[in-house]
Amino acid sequence: MATWSNFNLQNSASPLMEQIIFFHDHTLIILIMITILVGYLMINLFFNKYINRFLLDGQMIELIWTIIPTITLIFIALPSLRLLYLLDELNNPLITLKSIGHQWYWSYEYSDFNDVSFDSYMINYNKSDINNFRLLDVDNRIILPMNNQIRIMVTATDVIHSWTIPSLGVKIDANPGRLNQTNLFINRPGIFFGQCSEICGANHSFMPIMIESISIKK
Ligand code: CUA
Repeated sequence: MATWSNFNLQNSASPLMEQIIFFHDHTLIILIMITILVGYLMINLFFNKYINRFLLDGQMIELIWTIIPTITLIFIALPSLRLLYLLDELNNPLITLKSIGHQWYWSYEYSDFNDVSFDSYMINYNKSDINNFRLLDVDNRIILPMNNQIRIMVTATDVIHSWTIPSLGVKIDANPGRLNQTNLFINRPGIFFGQCSEICGANHSFMPIMIESISIKK
């Protein structure tokens, strides 16, 4: 879960989030190299006296500074596309969880079982008699088995919400009148938190998502 002053991404709890972090780091390295190069060149402009009254064009340098960024972009685009298609891949899920966004809470349905559905509201931190996670704890948690492919169906009843769990690499919009699909693979037991990430109204900040990951035997 997110803790104070956490500047980086949360630790991953799924294989896909691990890949997303690798891709983020890879892209950031390229970004830093470009920033240093351009910064160095810009600072140099203030101090050098390279002036040429008769300079009109430079075919060779323009060729070079067109091709080098193109190659650089390919190094970002190809891993990005690989990740994009990996995130969409779902084969033979064990169970399906349907999550429905409302103003302002989530409700869930376990469609594989008869009539298992419930609402999930945020708990008031001050009025609770047990320790809880402020602004992140809910009254009814989602319980899912670890080390299994899980299908998530996402929709909404009123406005657009977004079902987002940073540590599992899931972020998918919940649209009224539409059914979106994503997938999940949790590789350890624990509790994982998420929040709505579409600006959906006054209590947008107060519709957390809480997943309890347990062994399939339980
Ligand atoms: Cu639901 Cu923001």
